Amino acid sequence: MQITVDGTSFDVDAEQDMPLLWVLRDELGVTCVKYGCGIAQCGACTVHVDGTAVRSCQLALSDVWGEITTIQGLGSPDAPHVLQQAWIDHQVAQCGYCQNGQIMQAADLLQSVPNPTDQDIDDAMSGNLCRCGTYPRIKAAIKTAALAGGKGE
Ligand code: FES
Ligand code: FES
Repeated sequence: MQITVDGTSFDVDAEQDMPLLWVLRDELGVTCVKYGCGIAQCGACTVHVDGTAVRSCQLALSDVWGEITTIQGLGSPDAPHVLQQAWIDHQVAQCGYCQNGQIMQAADLLQSVPNPTDQDIDDAMSGNLCRCGTYPRIKAAIKTAALAGGKGE
């Protein structure tokens, strides 16, 4: 099966029911996508499929319906996505483990709700857990990114 990850196409020779997270990490070496719980309860593995945030630990390879974007495809060190820049400005990350998934979830939010309220942010981000308790800075960074134009395009 062929899949596209961050603009590059790959031929993947894997079981059709293999979770996308395993395909990305073990078959393609895309280790920026993190394994947290494996049961859709933490959000660490969040990537986009055609711009929609999904839990890659629970999406079978055969169910991938479009192009995959990871945190590496969202922006780059030279041209960070507006959310990545806001994350840096607010020094959101602590251990950092959850943050790739947090940003991918936030990017999905800003695509559909460019100026989210606190409640919108709470609703959208409630499935993304952070053991380091960075939630206030995540919220502040999302608001900064929204003011800066949100989508980063
Ligand atoms: S590893 Fe997928 S939601 Fe936790
Ligand atoms: S920054 Fe450590 S788990 Fe979120």
